[in-house]
Amino acid sequence: MGSDESPASTFKYNQQPTYTTSSGAPVHHAEAYQRAGGPNGPLLLQDFHLIDQLAHFDRERIPERVVHAKGAGAYGEFEVTHDISDITVVDMLKTVGKKTKAVTRFSTVGGEKGSADSARDPRGFSIKFYTEEGNWDWVYNNTPIFFLRDPGKFPLFIHTQKRNPQTNLKDATMFWDYLSTHQEAIHQVMHLFSDRGTPYSYRHMNGYSGHTHKWHKPDGTFNYVQVHLKTDQGSKTFNNAEAGKLASENPDWHTQDLFESIEKGDYPSWTVYVQVLSPEQAEKFRWNVFDLTKVWPQKDVPLRPFGKFTLNKNPENYFAEIEQVAFSPSHLVPGVEPSADPVLQSRLFSYPDTHRHRLGVNYQQIPVNAPLHAFNPFQRDGAMAVNGNYGANPNYPSSYRTLTYKQHSPITNDPHQKWSAQAVMHLNEVVAEDYVQAKGLWDVLGRTEGQQANFIGNVSGHLSAAREDTRQRTYEMFSRVDKALGEAIKTATEKNAAPQKESRL
Ligand code: NDP
Ligand code: HEM
Repeated sequence: MGSDESPASTFKYNQQPTYTTSSGAPVHHAEAYQRAGGPNGPLLLQDFHLIDQLAHFDRERIPERVVHAKGAGAYGEFEVTHDISDITVVDMLKTVGKKTKAVTRFSTVGGEKGSADSARDPRGFSIKFYTEEGNWDWVYNNTPIFFLRDPGKFPLFIHTQKRNPQTNLKDATMFWDYLSTHQEAIHQVMHLFSDRGTPYSYRHMNGYSGHTHKWHKPDGTFNYVQVHLKTDQGSKTFNNAEAGKLASENPDWHTQDLFESIEKGDYPSWTVYVQVLSPEQAEKFRWNVFDLTKVWPQKDVPLRPFGKFTLNKNPENYFAEIEQVAFSPSHLVPGVEPSADPVLQSRLFSYPDTHRHRLGVNYQQIPVNAPLHAFNPFQRDGAMAVNGNYGANPNYPSSYRTLTYKQHSPITNDPHQKWSAQAVMHLNEVVAEDYVQAKGLWDVLGRTEGQQANFIGNVSGHLSAAREDTRQRTYEMFSRVDKALGEAIKTATEKNAAPQKESRL
């Protein structure tokens, strides 16, 4: 796990290792090429050092992540600060003071690997905890909700936030056309266009599970939970103009800020909370707990603190440790289950699937992804099997070999299951209730001087580039949140609106 055990990183920059070919043969100079008949002669195909160098370079790129391609990461540690043994059996959370090592990756969502850190976008907030009972991944965002609650829409939605298939440009009409015709997104749109859509740095933002999970209790029953990581640095943002300026002046600002803070010992931390609802409470709750577009209001479901998460070590090698890190909401540990949330259920499939494509079938063997302990000799071979491939261990459950199996508290009797199956069937239609929490955030923005005005400016600056009919539909959407908001956005947008253009959308 981590950088220290990788053989290629055993040579530190301040040592003087002997330079060799990739197969270990000493070479008299890194830029020495074999030529026929003297220093100016033609190159020779027999020069393995040169051919290998070129061939390796030709293959340096792996696919970038299809979303969340631009990111930065670091190592850290989680510490349990409050006793929550009444609501969890997770080994990592069992005792106050217990510490667990972790790797984190923060990211933007829509942009390519070279895009600007300061772009208006949700931010990814992923953590892989190396627990005694396997890796537990929190693949979270910096917003407590998302644009959709129906997973089939994810690729369609993402396409509209990326590039137009013909022009290869970002396309404001595509962007707003999707959002104004899928108005379950409105709550997330409110988050995205507040100034928290352009955070000051990765250190100054919160992280949220968004999804509801099930945590097993010691008595074999469970609770529904949502996890929040609140920044101890304080929430801090750029305004639209600052973020735009930075995109050209220093597109890697968030990456730089994270690395340099850790390098100088200014370790960022987050206080970690859980919201808890029993299945009985969930059945009666105003909000569907499987609806990813809704929060659990904190006055109804208070935040219970249980931990502190601190980042304290930079990677030694970005590609090995951050580009190759592979998170998945399906990397769970005993005591945690996904809820019936259909988006979460689909994500359980999607991440390991994309890792097999992006990193290969043995992605779990890459040091940064390798768990502390794993014994699964029935998964064998495949490209890049580099961990000894379980040696001579039988590759089937041999009757001559005894394996130890560890039982963990299954939820035995779950009459609530029937209710949850019904609850996920009513998530498609957009109803008046879908605008209520969006209005709640509009009111939260009203608590801080200037935030509502910034919101209107942030939307209108973007929306003014969209087609006229799309703009009109979008004003109507914001009017359903708050009539005056819809009017204000219309007035501000139409001042600078683009003339209607032909488009093949
Ligand atoms: P509360 O008044 O109890 O909490 C308001 C929450 O809003 C706080 O968590 C605060 O986070 C957060 N917040 C403040 N400013 C912004 C902003 N510009 N963008 C996003 N979040 C912000 O209210 P409720 O729990 O009843 O929720 C009201 C609204 O607040 C919701 O509709 C939702 O949009 C938003 N919200 C709710 C959260 C929840 O889990 N209930 C979580 C985050 C946002 P902080 O402490 O970091 O300032
Ligand atoms: C990255 C799919 C919704 C958070 C990714 C990746 C895929 C993906 C394919 C690239 C992973 C990689 O190449 O390593 C999906 C699908 C979704 C969905 C299909 C819905 C159906 C969400 C939601 C959240 C989220 C709701 C947050 C609550 C993230 C994060 C990353 C990511 C943080 C970056 C992980 C990293 O840093 O490597 N997603 N996603 N995604 N997703 Fe999602």
